[in-house]
Amino acid sequence: MTKTAAIIGGGVIGGGWAARFLLNGWNVRVFDPDPEAERKIGEVLENARRSLPGLSDVPLPSEGTLTFHDEMAEAVKGATWIQESVPERLDLKLRVYKSLQEECDPGAIIGSSTSGFKPSELQEGALRPEQIVVTHPFNPVYLLPLIELVPTEKNPSEMVARAQDLLKSVGFFPLHIKKEIDAHIADRFLEAVWREALWLVKDGIATTEEVDEAIRMGFGIRWAQMGLFETYRVAGGEAGMRHFMAQFGPALKWPWTKLMDVPEFTDELVDLIAEQSDAQSGMHSIRELERIRDNNLVSMMRALKAQNYGAGAVLNQHDALLKPGALPTLEQADLTQPILTLSRAVPLDWTDYNGHMNEAKYLEAFAAATDRFMEIIGCDMDYIASGGSYFTAENHIRYIDEVHAGARIQIRTQMLLGQGKKLHVFHSMYEGEKLLATGESFLLHVSLETRRPSAPSPEIEAAMAQIAEAQAGLPYPEGAGAAIRKPA
Ligand SMILES: NC(=O)c1ccc[n+]([C@@H]2O[C@H](COP(=O)([O-])OP(=O)(O)OC[C@H]3O[C@@H](n4cnc5c(N)ncnc54)[C@H](O)[C@@H]3O)[C@@H](O)[C@H]2O)c1
Repeated sequence: MTKTAAIIGGGVIGGGWAARFLLNGWNVRVFDPDPEAERKIGEVLENARRSLPGLSDVPLPSEGTLTFHDEMAEAVKGATWIQESVPERLDLKLRVYKSLQEECDPGAIIGSSTSGFKPSELQEGALRPEQIVVTHPFNPVYLLPLIELVPTEKNPSEMVARAQDLLKSVGFFPLHIKKEIDAHIADRFLEAVWREALWLVKDGIATTEEVDEAIRMGFGIRWAQMGLFETYRVAGGEAGMRHFMAQFGPALKWPWTKLMDVPEFTDELVDLIAEQSDAQSGMHSIRELERIRDNNLVSMMRALKAQNYGAGAVLNQHDALLKPGALPTLEQADLTQPILTLSRAVPLDWTDYNGHMNEAKYLEAFAAATDRFMEIIGCDMDYIASGGSYFTAENHIRYIDEVHAGARIQIRTQMLLGQGKKLHVFHSMYEGEKLLATGESFLLHVSLETRRPSAPSPEIEAAMAQIAEAQAGLPYPEGAGAAIRKPA
């Protein structure tokens, strides 16, 4: 059954939560008194649709339904998850819980996006404190996996486990923080770095741009893949962490850091920073900067995915949750028709300077469809490990229509020949009913030991014969066997 999330407060953060749930197949109800809320959430959603679905190599569930409600009671009734993202004021948050708890299901989880308050502060005086936890996200909520999940001893462990499962099911990485503290974990680092950066700018040591370069050209990339401790362990060389601490530990006592001493936010400092920031980034609108950010995040996260590391490993785990049933097996497919061998959204890192899918990525998509076809006939990872596989001998791609980031594409595959060591397939790529491209591949079965053509297993032969017989009635596809014509 489709689950429902209620989003209380639909600003930057609430909008991100709404998009994350919606694109993962949940119905989403929003309550936000701001008459602009619908427009603002629409803009977040537009960014999310462009960037989130393509992070997965399998299709996300069909989008849920988004509704806006004038009454909070209506939004929370029957919801499985209620996410509070109203402004960061304790009195307001407590008032919101009071009225929503009168209406919501006692089994629902109420997560707060609060950046700073402890869960015990949020539970104070609540009708059912055990229902409220901190689930602190990071902007853009539709892309970044981290959720700091902070419960208190009032939250039953069953509820915490359920919260973790539900968060994982929409692609988050819930980090269970066992002991509450103001501002949780991540924002404490960010505050420390922010403090130092403000001093550097105020004291005229660096501009806002120089501070940003110092981060993004170096340790920012390092942090994104290994974090702090694992990076330092490597920096310690073979002697590892102990050596690193012995070498650099004493430096912490040198007068490098201003520690808790915060520069006063005088008009002068605010002007200085705002002016430098305008000079650095004012040529881009916020909307442009969001898109630049999302393009970069998606590209980095998909690169980490190929390494199965950090945030990339989380994406792979989410794909594994979505994969069962996403594509038909030999038994499930209607073999009289071309077989569905790929279904996914076009990721942002597949598009080029023309704003559409790069020609090389069509081959990547067709190669994934060929891999899936191989799996369907029994040439799966176990079979390959046993010493047989298919090598591609020839490909021919026809580019028929444009396709853009976020588009949901499907590939259907007709087998033109599957006999002995030869496998000849014809893939057609669609967006809805629109034909985008065709890819024709000729493959040879090889022995991975001799690297020479060899006969496949009898099981593969049998599967190919079954498909050949079922697809015998299909017309030979238009465009198959084509070559580039000689200019007239
Ligand atoms: N901005 C960030 O980077 C960030 C990151 C993580 C967490 N947070 C936390 O998320 C929460 C929301 O922050 P934001 O940046 O989205 O703020 P925001 O100002 O963009 O959005 C707050 C929204 O709440 C609505 N609102 C106000 N009163 C309401 C009420 N009584 N009921 C329902 N909606 C109401 C407002 O109309 C507004 O749309 C805060 O607790 C903040 O600490 C923010």
